[in-house]
Amino acid sequence: MRTPALLLAALLMSLTALPLKAAEGTVLITGANRGIGLALAREFTEAGFEVIGTARKPNKATELKATGARVVQLDVTDDASVAAMAKTLEGVAIDIVINNAGVALDRGRELADLDMGAIERTFAVNTMGPIRVMAALYPNVKAGDRKLFANISSMMGSMEMNTWGCCLGYRASKAALNSASKTLAVDIGKKGMTFVVFHPGYVQTDMNEGQGNITPAQSAAGLTKVIAGLNAKDNGKFYDWQGKELPW
Ligand SMILES: NC(=O)c1ccc[n+]([C@@H]2O[C@H](COP(=O)([O-])OP(=O)(O)OC[C@H]3O[C@@H](n4cnc5c(N)ncnc54)[C@H](OP(=O)(O)O)[C@@H]3O)[C@@H](O)[C@H]2O)c1
Repeated sequence: MRTPALLLAALLMSLTALPLKAAEGTVLITGANRGIGLALAREFTEAGFEVIGTARKPNKATELKATGARVVQLDVTDDASVAAMAKTLEGVAIDIVINNAGVALDRGRELADLDMGAIERTFAVNTMGPIRVMAALYPNVKAGDRKLFANISSMMGSMEMNTWGCCLGYRASKAALNSASKTLAVDIGKKGMTFVVFHPGYVQTDMNEGQGNITPAQSAAGLTKVIAGLNAKDNGKFYDWQGKELPW
């Protein structure tokens, strides 16, 4: 027969073995090893969230690891990689998924200059990637409290704001992501899920060779505040990093 002291010790040990839920919830961020994704991992950690950050090469994601995030391998264009991530996270409730991973590969303005391969690769990452991730992680987000998908799009995906052209593949890939997000907002919003798309600002990252008028930290601080404050009423909306509503 165990003594009361031994029973108490066993109870305490079993309690400490339980995964502790972060006060604010759990957020998964794709492409979190650099740029806006890494800054988001830092901001959400700071804001009291448990962060799962994905990287194509986890071994090289040293800055992401330094934030304290759990790092999971993910290439959003690869079905096997997405399935492996979903398997690793099976049973884990995720409050917010931020589809941040993206590429900008085409700059052509003339029909004769279009790089069809680059446009296809852009769609594979920017459009099919988030759709694949949302499908794979739907059970996790459904089990979370916030039930939110935040998709990092761009103002370049807006028809109304397209006054200066350029980058046909990038613009079209983000417009298609906007359309997919809006469709899911209509179809699955009824089940209590929230889908919102974001323009993160013009941000100094590798994507634009450090151009831009705000830093990743500024963009991520704004986005974190807005995303953490979203609720079901925001379903199907398009916001910038400061919470200003944008036209489709
Ligand atoms: N910077 C801006 O001004 C700006 C403006 C509007 C919208 N955005 C959007 O903001 C998001 C983040 O952009 P950023 O400026 O931070 O770009 P970035 O610095 O180039 O970072 C892109 C991130 O996406 C990841 N990624 C690329 N292809 C991937 C794939 N197949 N699977 C998984 N991850 C992949 C990269 O991982 P690797 O390190 O492995 O390549 C990296 O972590 C993108 O969706 C972008 O379109 C940016």
